[in-house]
Amino acid sequence: MCGIVGYIGTKEALPVLIKGLKRLEYRGYDSAGVAVIDQGKIQRRRAVGKIDQLTDRLKTEQWGGAIGIAHTRWATHGGVTEENAHPHTDCSGEIMVAHNGIIENYRELRDKFLGGHTLQSKTDTEILAHLIEVHYQGDLRLAVEQALRHVRGTYGLVILHKKEPRKLIAARLGSPLVVGIGDKEYYIASDTSPMLAYTSQVIFLDDGEIAEVTDHGLQIYDLHDQQITKEAEHIDWSERAAEQGGYQHFMLKEIIDQPVVIKDALRGRLVDSEGTAHLGGLNMTEEQMHSVQRIILIACGTASYAALAGKYAFERLSGIPTEVDMGSEFRYRDPIVDRHTLVFAISQSGETADTLAAAREAKRKGAFVRGIVNVVGSTIARETDGGTYIHAGPELAVASTKAYTNMVAVLLMYALQFGRLKRLTVATGQRLVAALREIPDKMQTALQQGTKARALAEKYRQYKNFFFLGRGINYPVALEGSHKLKEISYIHSEAYAAGEMKHGANALLALDFPVLAMMTKNQLYEKMRSNVEEVRARQSPLILVATEGDTEARELTEDIIYVPATMELLEPLVNTIPLQLFAYHMAVLLGRDVDRPRNLAKSVTVE
Ligand code: G6P
Repeated sequence: MCGIVGYIGTKEALPVLIKGLKRLEYRGYDSAGVAVIDQGKIQRRRAVGKIDQLTDRLKTEQWGGAIGIAHTRWATHGGVTEENAHPHTDCSGEIMVAHNGIIENYRELRDKFLGGHTLQSKTDTEILAHLIEVHYQGDLRLAVEQALRHVRGTYGLVILHKKEPRKLIAARLGSPLVVGIGDKEYYIASDTSPMLAYTSQVIFLDDGEIAEVTDHGLQIYDLHDQQITKEAEHIDWSERAAEQGGYQHFMLKEIIDQPVVIKDALRGRLVDSEGTAHLGGLNMTEEQMHSVQRIILIACGTASYAALAGKYAFERLSGIPTEVDMGSEFRYRDPIVDRHTLVFAISQSGETADTLAAAREAKRKGAFVRGIVNVVGSTIARETDGGTYIHAGPELAVASTKAYTNMVAVLLMYALQFGRLKRLTVATGQRLVAALREIPDKMQTALQQGTKARALAEKYRQYKNFFFLGRGINYPVALEGSHKLKEISYIHSEAYAAGEMKHGANALLALDFPVLAMMTKNQLYEKMRSNVEEVRARQSPLILVATEGDTEARELTEDIIYVPATMELLEPLVNTIPLQLFAYHMAVLLGRDVDRPRNLAKSVTVE
């Protein structure tokens, strides 16, 4: 989704802005633009396509200004054209606006305020530039404030004006914005990644706040001109963690990082002696924990498949009825929650609009609402009354991998914590803790299947459809494997609970419809094996994910990926890895844009 970068300081702004945009590329975009004030003149360039297309245009430019704004656009209103790319400007060309979000009443604003103005684009954002022009009387912040009072919708905004050449205005409602504080310089961006190279001191803007940044410092106001005091926070994500580090794609790096980053999720949270986990951020007394009668896990996309693995763990370990709900459905369904309900909002970015709205709805209805989030300081992290960071580090590929496994790990630890409070013995708890400690090594073993996954991708690359089948704890794994494949390779793929195939989907099984079945040695092994036989009987090509040492699996197919055994509830942490690798290699072989698949965005801040 759109990315915003702003800079004011002593450095040349252009290289900082371009590098910042590159850091935000992972969010997904279709055009890019930049505006800089250089020696009192506003310079702007925009281009459709990748940032490289924009830098091509800038090759011959010698802009030296030390203030500017930049934007990557993910089209919502108006097609993907240069005219529609940001920054947008007013009639005078003196105001520049970069915007993330949607101005819902832009038609109304245009008709009411902008008779006589010449509009150059088909975007909602341009209306805002003109609206600021209408209100401008020598103070950009006041003009922005007045303009925003008329606006319905969501925005993360960064704005500059030629007449006030050492000032940036940033405003937020619903779309994230962070201000980075350097030495005599400030960075503004949609997330911290563009500023990691320069500073670790940041201020996260909240909804309804406007920041005015000049050479003299940073001031924050609300929409009614009242000044707000905010403390800077320290972030410890390193610039290096956000680099590709020699790998062909971020996704591959992030898959390979999993055994390392899962240790960060587990660190300091397992209590061996008591066979439990302790996640301090839960922020609930034992009495409150005992009062929980129902758990709802709210998430979208990959996070929802991590949540489903979490459901199995919560129910088995704690006996508390647990459901998974999609943010987009939950928020409009008048959900039944009360003060005995514990809601976890699970999100890598912590900004997903549907998950956030659902969490707010649950809070309004009196539930305990906690976050399970990766991005530090993100909106869900700040708006929930507690929760846990998954500590996966920056995840830049659109397709989530390491955040998924770390989410599962955190959910397992919560399930263990509740389980020990309810019905689990110390001994069972200790077995789980010991098994969790072995997971990084088992992930490493699973990663060694990379060559096999690649060979299978070679063999199966021409197929147009796939089924992923699993039962029990492998059902969420199948869902996630299928999701990965369709996200990045664009191959049609469906996941089924294997026992459900006979009720309809079996009709599709045929020579041209391969099946990837999760047949690991757990309590449903025999049942799964029967389902696999049914697939074979219908001649679908078959790939199996099986447990190391299961030689019988060879009687069923030659296409097997072996994974190490672990405790059943922990299987998603290991079994998902070969599926990530399979999807990855398939996408590479098919020449897809692996890290930035078409039509998708990493951080979906609109509905
Ligand atoms: C987008 C991404 C998915 C991701 C989902 C949820 O749709 O393309 O990969 O799983 O959002 O994102 P979140 O940040 O809430 O985990």
